[in-house]
Amino acid sequence: MRVLVTGGAGYIGSHTLRALRAAGHTAAVFDDLSSGHLRAIGDVPLHRGSITDAAALASAFAAFRPEAVIHFAGLTSVAESVEDPNRYFDVNIGGADRLLEAMERAGTARIVFSSSAAVYGAPAVVPIPEDAPLVPINPYGVTKKSVELRLALRARDRGLAAISLRYFNAAGADPDGTLGEDHTPERHLIPNVLAVALDRAPAVEVFGDDYPTPDGSCLRDFVHVGDLAQAHVLALERLRPGEATAYNLGSATGTSVLEVIAAGRRITGHPIPIAAKPRRPGDPPSLVASRARAEAELGWIPKFDSIERIIETAWNWHRGTRGGIPEAGAGFSR
Ligand SMILES: NC(=O)c1ccc[n+]([C@@H]2O[C@H](COP(=O)([O-])OP(=O)(O)OC[C@H]3O[C@@H](n4cnc5c(N)ncnc54)[C@H](O)[C@@H]3O)[C@@H](O)[C@H]2O)c1
Repeated sequence: MRVLVTGGAGYIGSHTLRALRAAGHTAAVFDDLSSGHLRAIGDVPLHRGSITDAAALASAFAAFRPEAVIHFAGLTSVAESVEDPNRYFDVNIGGADRLLEAMERAGTARIVFSSSAAVYGAPAVVPIPEDAPLVPINPYGVTKKSVELRLALRARDRGLAAISLRYFNAAGADPDGTLGEDHTPERHLIPNVLAVALDRAPAVEVFGDDYPTPDGSCLRDFVHVGDLAQAHVLALERLRPGEATAYNLGSATGTSVLEVIAAGRRITGHPIPIAAKPRRPGDPPSLVASRARAEAELGWIPKFDSIERIIETAWNWHRGTRGGIPEAGAGFSR
C-alpha cells in the first residue's frame, strides 16, 4: 500500500517507517519537523507542513495519492496540555479534522490513528480492557478521545476504515543503534534516567512517592517502539470499511518508576540519584494494558518482553554507539 505517515519524522513514526518498508509498503511522510528529525526518515519523501494547514495537506495528497494514512502528528505532553489546553485542542483535534477532510476529498478511506492510554484517565480496573470507560483526566487525553469519536462517526456514516492504537509508554530504540528517542525537552522517563547515567543531568526527577502503588511511585506499562511499529503494519491489514476499532498496545506488565530507575542502575552501572518532586497534575497512579484484543485480532505479540531488554536498546542508542553515526548529527548533541 501507499501509506502517508503524518508525524513520520518523530520517535514512533520513524520506527514505523522502517517496519512499513520491511513489509513491502511504500511510504511518504507529512511532518512540520517541530519535534521530529529529517535524518530519522532516511530516503523516505517528506511533505513538509502543519497538520492544521488544509492547503499543505491537499498538495501532499495530490502528489502522493495515498491508499492509507497513519496519523502520528501532534502534540504529546500531558503536562504541557494542562498548561495550554487550547493549543492541544487546535493541533490534535483541529489537525485531525483537517486530515480527515483531506482524506475524504482525495478518496483515501483507511486510517490508523495514534491514540493513547490517556483516554482511560485513572481507570478503576487494571489491567485495562478496551471497553473500560473513556474518562480522560487531562486535555491531552481529551484530544485523543475526541479523535477516536470522530473516527467512529465517519466509519458509521461514511464507510471509513479506522483503527485507533492506544499506546501505553513507548520506550527503547532500534536494536541496531541507528534510530532512537530524541526529544527536546525530553519528558519521558527512560531517556531521562539514561541522561543521568551519562552525567548529562545530576538526578532523575520522581513525581510523587505516595501513590496507592506497591512502592508509592506511578505504575506504568512500557512497550518497545519496534513492537509498536510492527502493530501498525498488522493494523493496516486489519482495516475494514465502516468499522472503527481500538486496540491497546502495551506489554500488560506494570513497572513502577522506581523499578525503571533500579533497572537503569543495573544496566549502566551508574548510581542514578533521585530528586523527589511533588505529584504532577494529570498523572494517574496506574496504567497497565490488557493486550488480549490486540493479540486475538491483530496477532500482535510484543517481542521485547522485559524492561531490561527495552532499556538495553535505549542505552545502546543514548550512549552514542548509533551504528557508527557521528555524535555531531544526532541525539543529545544538538
Ligand atoms: N511516546 C509515547 O509514549 C506515546 C504514548 C501514547 C501516544 N503517543 C502518540 O503517538 C504519536 C507519536 O508520538 P511520538 O512519541 O513519536 O512523538 P514525537 O514528538 O517524536 O513525534 C511527533 C511528530 O509529529 C510532528 N508534528 C508535531 N506537530 C505537528 C504539526 N502541527 N504538523 C505536522 N507535524 C507535526 C513532529 O515534528 C514529530 O515528527 C503522538 O500522536 C502521540 O500523542 C505517544
